Amino acid sequence: MSANLNQTNIEIDDPNFQQAFSQLQGNILKGHGRDHSRHVFFSFVGDSTANRQWLAQISNQVTSTLEQQNQQQRFKEKNEIHLFTNLMLSCHGYKQLGIEQEKWPSDKAFQAGMKDLTTPFDTLPRGDHNPTANPLNDDLEQWENGFLRQIDGMVLLALGGIDSAQAEQQLEQEVQKLQASMAGVAEVVFVQKGHVMRNDKQQVIEHFGFVDGVSNPKFLFSELNEEFKNGGYSRNDPSAPLNTVMVPDPGGNADSFGTYVVYRKLQQNIKGFWDRLDILANTLSENSPTNVDAEYAGALCVGRFKDGTPISEQGNDGWSNLFNNFNYDDDADGLKCPFHSHARKTNPRGDTVRQFNSPPTIERSRRIVRRGISFGSTDLAPNKEWTDAGLLFISLQADIVDQFIFMQNTWCNNEGFVRQGTGMDPLVGQAKKGQPPAAQKWPTSWGSPNAEQVDFSFSGFVKTLGGEYFFMPSLQFLRSLS
Ligand code: HEM
Repeated sequence: MSANLNQTNIEIDDPNFQQAFSQLQGNILKGHGRDHSRHVFFSFVGDSTANRQWLAQISNQVTSTLEQQNQQQRFKEKNEIHLFTNLMLSCHGYKQLGIEQEKWPSDKAFQAGMKDLTTPFDTLPRGDHNPTANPLNDDLEQWENGFLRQIDGMVLLALGGIDSAQAEQQLEQEVQKLQASMAGVAEVVFVQKGHVMRNDKQQVIEHFGFVDGVSNPKFLFSELNEEFKNGGYSRNDPSAPLNTVMVPDPGGNADSFGTYVVYRKLQQNIKGFWDRLDILANTLSENSPTNVDAEYAGALCVGRFKDGTPISEQGNDGWSNLFNNFNYDDDADGLKCPFHSHARKTNPRGDTVRQFNSPPTIERSRRIVRRGISFGSTDLAPNKEWTDAGLLFISLQADIVDQFIFMQNTWCNNEGFVRQGTGMDPLVGQAKKGQPPAAQKWPTSWGSPNAEQVDFSFSGFVKTLGGEYFFMPSLQFLRSLS
C-alpha cells in the first residue's frame, strides 16, 4: 500500500510508509538535532551527465528518514556519532542537470527563485486573486555577494553529541571531502557555518536571547506525546497531516516524496533591538500603573518571554516555560498578547477564524516546519549594532507560496493583519523600500480592556542578507541520475 499524505500522528515504523521513508530525506518529519552545521552552497560547472553522476554518487551520503531514526537509536544506546546530510537543489540546479521541465517541482516561487522580484504570486486567501511581485519586500542591495551568485544546490552537513571543537574540526574535514568530490563538476559558492546556542537550561535560544524552536507542527505520534510535558494539546493541537510538508517527487516513483525549502540568512541587530526595547519600556511605563522593563517589552514583541512562557499565559503556573497548549480565545482583542507579536502573527491560533470566519483548517494549513540554526558570534550583549549574528532561517513546507510567502507577506508584513491598525510583526516584518512602517499599538496593562494603548513604531532589527528556494528530492530521484 502506498503512503497517504492526509494522515496525522503516524510512526516512523508504520508498515505503510517504509518504502516512502527509506527514500524521504531526514530532518523533514523530525529535526536532526545536531548542534553544529555547514551549509555548502554550490553551482554546477560540468556538463549535465557529469553533474548527474556526481549527485548520484553523493546520494549515498544523504540521510534518509529511516536512517536518521536508526542513527538516533544508536546514539542513545551506544553513543555512536553520525554525520547527518541533506541535499537540496534550486530550480536552476534542475536545469543544469538537464531534467525536462515536466519533472521539475512545480511550485511557482521555487521555479522563479528567490532573487526574482518581478514574478507575481497570489498571496491572498485561497480563492481571491491579486498577484503581487516581491511579496517579501526584499531588497537585493542588502544581500551578500554569495547569495547574488547562481546557486544550484546546497548540502547541509551536521554533527552533534561531541565536544564543540571536535565537531567543528570534523565538519571542516567533511566540507573538504565534499569539495574534493565535486572537482570538475561543481564549485563551492560559499560555506555558511551554523551552530545552536543554548541558555543555562540547555534550551535552544536565538540571538535576542529568547527560547526558540518551541512550537512546530508535529507529524509523529511519539513527538505529539512529548507535548504532554508542555501542557498537553487540548487548547492547541500541534499535529499536522504529512501533506503540510511532504509532496510527491515528480522525478521519482510512487513512493518518492520531497519537500520545499526556504532558506534565508537573517542578520539580527542585538544592540539596536534591546536599546529600542528600553525606549519602548520607558514609554509604556509612563502610561502604565506599573513599571515595564525591557524584558516585558520584548515579550510584547515576540509573544513569549525570554524563557519561552507565552505572554498571554503569564501567571498560569504549573507548566513548563515551553508551554504550547494555548490559544487566544481568552484574548480576542489582543490585550494580553498584541496581535502584532511575532508568535501571534505567524500562528494566529484562531484569530482568522474570529476575524474573517475563515475555516480553522485553512489557518492551520499555513503552518511551516522550522529547522533553522543560528550563525555568528555567541556574544548576546555586543556593544555595537549589526554584529555578525543572526538566524539561518530554514522552513520546510509543501507549498512555498501558500505557506512561507503567505505568512511573511499577508501576516508579518501586513499592517492590517489581523485588524486595521495592527502594524507589522516587530521582529521580522519587512516594509517596502522607502516606506516607513506605521506604529503598532502596545497595551499598557496586561489584559485590561480600559487601559490605554500606546502607539510606538518597532521594526528594522532583522535584515535579510540573502536566501534561496530549494527542493529536497527523494533518494530514488538522486540515485536514478547515474
Ligand atoms: C516562533 C524568533 C524569523 C516564523 C518564534 C519564537 C521566537 C522566534 C523567539 C517563539 C518560540 C517558538 O515558538 O519557537 C525568530 C527570530 C527570527 C524569526 C529571532 C529572525 C531572526 C521567523 C520568520 C518566520 C518565523 C522569517 C516566518 C515568516 C515563526 C513561527 C513561529 C515562530 C511559525 C511559531 C509560532 C507559534 O506556533 O506559536 N520565532 N523568528 N520566524 N516563528 Fe520566528
